[in-house]
Amino acid sequence: MSTLTVLNHPLIDHKMAIIRDKNTGSKEFRESVSEIGMLITYEISRNFKTIPINLETPMQKTTGYILAKPVVIVPILRAGLGMVDGIHKIIPTAKIGHVGFYRDEETLLPVEYFSKFPKNITKSTVLVVDPMLATGGSASATISLLKKRNVKDIRFIAIVGCPEGVKKLQEDHPDVAIYLAAMDARLDEKGYIVPGLGDCGDRLFGTK
Ligand code: PRP
Ligand code: URA
Repeated sequence: MSTLTVLNHPLIDHKMAIIRDKNTGSKEFRESVSEIGMLITYEISRNFKTIPINLETPMQKTTGYILAKPVVIVPILRAGLGMVDGIHKIIPTAKIGHVGFYRDEETLLPVEYFSKFPKNITKSTVLVVDPMLATGGSASATISLLKKRNVKDIRFIAIVGCPEGVKKLQEDHPDVAIYLAAMDARLDEKGYIVPGLGDCGDRLFGTK
């Protein structure tokens, strides 16, 4: 079974309170989603492997440590885009792949409409990012798409999850670690997470 880590950090909790609040405006919502993406990634990158390199400071020769593998961020469109800037700020060398899924409103099943990945993706650490892990359909389908392309090192990062989505992801992809800023109670009858934060894509992009 894959590991589930729910980040427990005062700064993340503080920003979670901002994005959950229905009175938060779109500027602060966007900024906070991006910052939460950055904070989660900072926490979970602790176990990224590094390799030693020789370098020279202004004083003398020494050893530095750099990331052993390239990192690729794969946001699930649209809402995943909201987390990319924040992650890119702390891993500026990361390349970006894009996967487009929308949920059919009747069946709640993910429908693919776009995918484009950087060339080096198979040898990279791939961070699949989407603020919402609801039924788990979009996340699971995205990870399947990456596995078909022979990607081995995949980690999934979301902001809000729920037991239904975690269960599906752990069943479909037991090898993929899941990281959440918060684990909520359940899904409602329309497939929305409660208490959640509403429709993340609409709040990010002002489409409702
Ligand atoms: C939302 C969200 C996830 C998906 C989660 O996207 O951003 O991608 O739903 O639901 P699931 O776990 O049940 O698949 P949505 O389909 O609303 O598209 P959008 O990001 O373009 O708004
Ligand atoms: N997508 C969202 O944006 N919010 C939810 O609560 C569930 C899916």
